Order: sequence, then structure tokens, then C-alpha cells
Amino acid sequence: MKNKGKYYITTAIAYTSGKPHIGNCYEIVLADSIARYKRKDGYDVHFLTGSDEHGQKIETRAIEDGCATPKEFVDKTSDVIKGLWNLLDTSYDRFIRTTDEDHETQIKKIFKKLYDQGDIYKGAYEGMYCTECEAFYTNSQLVDGKCPECHGDVHPAKEEAYFFKMSKYADRLMKHIEEHPEFIQPVARKNEMINNFLKPGLQDLCVSRTSFKWGIPVDFDPKHVVYVWLDALCNYITGIGYDADGNHGDLYKKYWPADLHLVGKDIIRFHTIYWPIFLMALGEPLPKQIFGHPWLLQGGEKMSKSKGNVLYADDLVSVYGVDAVRYFVLHEMPFDNDGVITWELMTDRFNSDLANTLGNLVQRTISMTNKYFDGVVENGGVKEAVDDDLISVVTGTYDKVEAKMADLKVADSITLIFDLFKRCNKYIDETEPWKLAKDEALLGRLKTVLYNLTEAITIGATLLDAFMPNTAEKIFKELNTTARDFEKLGEFGLYPSGTKVAEQPEMLFARMDQKEVAVKAAEIVSKQKAEYIEHQTKAAENLRAAGRTEDAAKIEAAVAAISGNAAEGSSESTEKFEQAEQVTYDDFAKLQFKVGKIIDCKEVPKSKKLLCSQVQIGDKTVQILSGIKAFYKAEEMVGKKVMVVANLKPAKIAGMESQGMLLCAESSDGKVVLMTPEKDMPSGSTIC
Ligand code: MSP
Repeated sequence: MKNKGKYYITTAIAYTSGKPHIGNCYEIVLADSIARYKRKDGYDVHFLTGSDEHGQKIETRAIEDGCATPKEFVDKTSDVIKGLWNLLDTSYDRFIRTTDEDHETQIKKIFKKLYDQGDIYKGAYEGMYCTECEAFYTNSQLVDGKCPECHGDVHPAKEEAYFFKMSKYADRLMKHIEEHPEFIQPVARKNEMINNFLKPGLQDLCVSRTSFKWGIPVDFDPKHVVYVWLDALCNYITGIGYDADGNHGDLYKKYWPADLHLVGKDIIRFHTIYWPIFLMALGEPLPKQIFGHPWLLQGGEKMSKSKGNVLYADDLVSVYGVDAVRYFVLHEMPFDNDGVITWELMTDRFNSDLANTLGNLVQRTISMTNKYFDGVVENGGVKEAVDDDLISVVTGTYDKVEAKMADLKVADSITLIFDLFKRCNKYIDETEPWKLAKDEALLGRLKTVLYNLTEAITIGATLLDAFMPNTAEKIFKELNTTARDFEKLGEFGLYPSGTKVAEQPEMLFARMDQKEVAVKAAEIVSKQKAEYIEHQTKAAENLRAAGRTEDAAKIEAAVAAISGNAAEGSSESTEKFEQAEQVTYDDFAKLQFKVGKIIDCKEVPKSKKLLCSQVQIGDKTVQILSGIKAFYKAEEMVGKKVMVVANLKPAKIAGMESQGMLLCAESSDGKVVLMTPEKDMPSGSTIC
């Protein structure tokens, strides 16, 4: 194989704030398929990924998790991340952690170098700070008083801080972007960066923090820690042996600059503006390309634990297997629009593409070879015109895939490979081997047909290898062959005639039943919900114990919302949770429903959603918190007869006790109304 030179590919490093969802996993699978493809294509590939472990958000998560130190927490979560990357068979060369010693040493040196040369200076920062995004914003950047990125709460903050002189390099960066149209991909993102950030003028960037401790200290001024994005972005060079004093390791000398930084569209600004400018200041060459991939959305919505709509790779793998998950995320993601994932869509794709198109093809070819020729594939040398189109599609696929991969159009590449398999299925219909088998005189032709199919599948599986490595491996094993050299994919007829295929081919993908999958999915969702509530309840307790009462109250309110006590979260997710579990009559009979009368109601201080009602049930009065402030004023609640779950275990919500639940109906567009008795009934009446 001709050596086509080096290829250095990276992914964003995942936050260690929690378990990555399938969207995060999409990126590593995408990078892996590009890395695997390039290796086969003759490149000397280096593939870097890892975890982003510093910052205030992670410091807080460590408290919530009850860990003694943030390091204990990130050790745990980075193992979870690595575990998922490994489960998905990703072939990275290094998993860098920003707590790795070699990385931390270099970050301290980089900061000092930039300070000594005057690119970093000391000043003071005043603005609105978003902990979730670890970023300061001016008031004018806020959207409805909220963070413009994550739409979460921001708080005023003032800090002595170090700043980086961004404006010094802005013109150079603009020139670079204009002269290198391939630098930012897709092109729409490039225009966004130029128009929204570079043209309005770059502000100097605050690159240190004093308001929390969990970061890499500025070693000449240790009350400051290095801004997480400066720390994290530099992983791309520290991870291959960059040295701020110039004594670079061999990997750095060989692989830098990166050929491709693969990142999500949300963090393209950090990679196409801050990162190149840091590199210019360090005097290092810029990466060749930054690709801001779209997002994978669950049923069209952003995944969020509180909505209960998060999909995790390990759950999906437990139902469909690793390669099916890889196939789905790679195939369903268009080049520049968001992709959609749901259990239903996955099952559909599984059945149509994997079980029908690919699985059946391999199964039928091997079974017929066993049935008619005791498993021996032989080229009968009896050609017919119908073979020409098959051969031309099969031998033309590599060039087409190559062109798509050069443009990072991975979904299109997989489609081309499946077009090859579909063409093979059509060839079976055209040649009707079962009819040929009936006539002794046509056995030579039958041999040729089965040979052509085996050869075509071998070529297809060679191309499939980068995207679905386990499946390709199984196919090679069953066909008793190995992957073909990419340079030979334009030739047809290299499968050694006389080879014997497997006697009992393993079914690659057995069709799945939508209903059975739905039941499994419901179990997973229900388990996830229970675990999430348990985790968050514990998190609130831990935050309270650490004196973070406001943060604890927020979590408690969120827990109340998804526990069904509030009109929060989309109706779709509520439905999902409802579907999640079937109950028996005995389960149902455990609940006590009563008619109650609201005798007093107040807004809960500092809560945007909660009302606190005093509800008379017979001769008893209980306090109930409900997330219905958006739909009812406190005063209009008083006097209403309502339906109450009366024997719910009391729970703390926003620091107050709630001793039951008011039943409400929620429409699909999120409107909420209280359930009331159809005719007046005395309070305390049993609802049965
Ligand atoms: N730690 C930063 C990256 C620092 S890189 C120097 C970060 N981490 S993340 O865990 O939030 O995201 C990791 C990657 O997953 C990012 O590229 C992000 O854009 C991507 N995605 C997050 N949600 C996603 C989807 N729903 N779909 C596809 N990719 C998604 O950002």
C-alpha cells in the first residue's frame, strides 16, 4: 500500500461532569470511522481523544456526588467516558486527561510563555458569569437575562484576572480564514464566525479565574487557575508531546499540525477563533481543518436528563449491538443539519438496512454456496451481460467513497456501500440462482453467480470495515477471506476460486420487533428516571451539607418536576415516563386519592414554578407544593376542590415539605389544568 503521509485527527475532549450521551458518542464514532478509513487508505494516522476535567461545574458536580476531592470525581467519570469509547470500538491512540501530569506541566509553561511575551496581561473582570458554560458575558450579550449559550442562570461576578490580547491577532486570523476556504467546515459555520465574531471586533479574553480552585494553577500567581478553555484546547498539542521550551517530542514533530479537529457546532467558536490565535501567539502552525459537525437530537429535541429523554450508547448497544449503533449514528447524521435518533427509527433502520439488505445478502449467498456446492466458491467462468452492471457498481464504489470521505461526507459514504449491497440483492433477483440449480447444464453459470456475489461482498465488507469493524470481520470470517487492499478495490475477481465458506453462517442481524424494543426501551427509561431522581436527591443533600442551599433548592425543584409533581418537562417526556412501567391493580390500589379543598395558597419564595397550597382533606390539613405557578395565581387557587394523592411519602422541595400531590392534566402543548370533581363533593371523599 502506498504511504499517503501522516494524518492527525482529534475529537473534542468530553467534560467529566457526567456520563456522555449518544450525541457525544456520535463524535468519537465519527472520528473513529475517519481514522480507520484513512489508515486503510494508506495514511499514517494518529487519533487523539480524551476528557476535559477542570472548572467550576466539575468542582460542583464532585460535591453533589459526595466525592472527597474533584480528582476523585473526575477519575470516576473519565473511566466512564473511556469505557464508552472502548465499548464503541474506537481505535484512538491516546486518551488524554487534562489532569495528566504532562499536560498540566505544559499548560503552566504555556501560560508563563504567553505572559512573558506580553500576550497575557493582568487586569480585572466584571460581568455576568455562567457557571454551566464557564464563561463571562456582558449584559448586552445576555438573552432575556440568561446565558446566550445554554439559557441557564448567570450571576454578577468580578475578579482580578489575566487577559489574552485577542485583538492583536484578529487581522491575521481573518486573512488565514479567507485564504484557506477549507479551514472551517461546513462553510456556513465559517461565515457565522466571520460575521458574528471577527467583523464586530474581538474582545480580549479572560484566561484565568480566582472564584474557584479546581483548575491548573498559574504557577507565578497561584490564586489564579487557568481558564478551562485555554487548558482544554491545548490538549491537541500537549497530547502529542508539545513543549513550550521547544523540546518537542517525536510525535509532535511528526504529526503537528493537526489535519482535522472534529468538534460539535456549539464549540466551533472556541476552535476557530481562540485556538488558532493561541497557536499564533505560541508561534506554531495552525490546524488544517476544523469541522463543526451537527447535533444528534432525540426525537428532534436536545437531550436533557431532566426531560428524561437522554439516550446512552451502552443502553442502545445492549439492545442493538455495537455496530448497529455505529451504523445508525453515522448514517443518520447529515453533513450540515442535525440528525434525529429515536428507538423507533433505530429499529426501522436495523430491520431494513442491517437485517434485510446486508444480513440477508450474506446469509443467502453463504447458504446457497453450501446447498449447491458444499460451501466451495468457484468461478465457473460463465459470464452474462447482467454481470457487467454488478461489476461496474462494485468496482466503482471505492472511488466514489474516496471522494465523499475527502469531503468528510461519512453518511454519504455509508450509503454508497449499502448501495453496493443493494445492487447485490438485485443481482440475486435478476439471476435467480434457485432456478439455475435445477438444471445440470447451468451449474457453471450458478457457480459464477455465487462467485460474483462472494467477490462483491468481500469488496463491500472491505469498505464497511472502517464504519462497522465487527461486522466486516464476521463477514470475512464467514467467507474465509480477509480485507482487500484499498488499491485493489477497482479490480474484480481476486477472491481465490476454490475457497470454502463457513458451514453454518452466523446470522449477522436478526430482525427486531418494534413492540419488543418498545418494552425494553420503556424499562430503560424508567430505570434511568429512578436513578436520576435518586442521584439528584442525594446531590441536593450533599450540596446542602456543603452549605450550597440555593443550588440544592434548584435541584430539589427540578426533581419535584420530573417526579410528576410539577408541570415541567415536555408532554412527550411525560408520556415516555408514563409508558415506562405497567402497574398491577395491587400497585394501583396502594395509592389513596381524595377530594381536597384548598384553604390557603402562597407563591414559594425564589421559585419560578412552585405554589404552596394548604389542602384540607376531611379533618386533616396538608401542605402540597406544585409546579403550576405558570397556570394559576396563588389567590385563585383558594376555595378550589381538587383531587389529591393523599398517601404520597412527604418530600422536600425547594427546602419545604410537600405532603401529597395535586392531580393535573397536561396537554400536548404543555398547558396544565387542575383535576376537580365533576359535581361538588365534600373534602375527604375517596376517589375510587
Ligand atoms: N469539553 C468541551 C470540549 C473541549 S475541546 C477542547 C465540551 N465537552 S462536551 O462533553 O460538552 O461535548 C463533547 C463533544 O460532544 C462536543 O464536540 C460537543 O459539541 C459534542 N456534542 C454535545 N452534544 C451533542 C449532540 N447532541 N450531538 C452531537 N454532538 C454533541 O464541549
